[in-house]
Amino acid sequence: MALLIYSAVPASLWIDALREASPRLDIRSWPDIGDPSDITSALVWKPDLSVLRALPNLRAIFSMGAGVDHILERGEFPKGVRLARIVDSGLSVSMSQYVCYHAIRYLRQFDKFQDAQRARSWISPPVVEPCGWNVGLLGFGVLGSHSARALKQLGFHVRALARSSKTDEVIKVFDQTQFDEFLSDTRLLICLLPLTRETKGILNKEVFNKLPRGAYLINVGRGAHQVELDILSALDDGQLEGATLDVFNEEPLPDSSPLWSHPKVYITPHCAADPDPKRAAPFILDNVRRTDEGISLLGEVDLACEY
Ligand code: NDP
Ligand code: OXD
Repeated sequence: MALLIYSAVPASLWIDALREASPRLDIRSWPDIGDPSDITSALVWKPDLSVLRALPNLRAIFSMGAGVDHILERGEFPKGVRLARIVDSGLSVSMSQYVCYHAIRYLRQFDKFQDAQRARSWISPPVVEPCGWNVGLLGFGVLGSHSARALKQLGFHVRALARSSKTDEVIKVFDQTQFDEFLSDTRLLICLLPLTRETKGILNKEVFNKLPRGAYLINVGRGAHQVELDILSALDDGQLEGATLDVFNEEPLPDSSPLWSHPKVYITPHCAADPDPKRAAPFILDNVRRTDEGISLLGEVDLACEY
């Protein structure tokens, strides 16, 4: 029973963390996989699925991140194999820090002060109460619900949209049928959705036009959620007042992208919440054990829903 590591980016930190947490675990790192029939689970980032399909005893695939689109978009998923992603409180905290920082930056107009400083201009913006600002989170899962609570603690009026209807003690959650109502008074829209066939391209002109004029956008989901030309034109015509983007259709963001130099765009390099291999190692090891024992996985993905 061996765990295969297959990653399109260097994975030595993962291998070290897993070896340290479980010195006896049989770890194989692609392409040195030894006997393919030994491998029962695989920890992956952007894998070649044909390699995984060829493993006769593979029973589970674990994502190196919270998202699984980097696996599912790569072709036919191996039959009879389960899929899990990382669920970790450290990721939730990092994501909440990111969205709270940018929400405050917009609410308190720190973006404007930066411009004013460059122009040696002493400006006095109006005082804005956070409760006067509706923040709308697209997605109320592990990360969305944590961020929603953190924003609420800071005084924002927070609502969220989920795929299914649900009730929450503190946050009002809209379902898909209430999308337009949700958008109509969302001053700051934050995308924390998984990338699926339903959510691809969801951040588009039609949606921006349903927000109040001068709304703000933060996208920390996936680049393919956003139509980048629609963001640029909404910023230029004032429908959007600012956009903070951590994810892009093409990563790294190409040098030629007009997003780099747009005065109303704040760019970060897909770093809102990076899994820490040391923190995640016990979670992965628990899932290795669960795979070998044939019991349910932590963070198991519903393959039909793609998240
Ligand atoms: P979860 O699976 O826990 O939550 C997903 C949420 O999205 C759920 O509330 C779900 O609704 C909702 N949802 C799914 N499809 C739709 C839809 N069509 N319409 C409305 N709501 C929908 O995911 P996480 O919170 O753990 O992570 C979310 C995403 O964040 C990841 O998939 C990844 O892409 C991104 N991410 C980005 C990082 C970064 O650094 N930028 C880091 C980590 C993650 P329901 O509750 O009804 O199921
Ligand atoms: C993830 C990410 O999915 O870092 O964890 O984007």
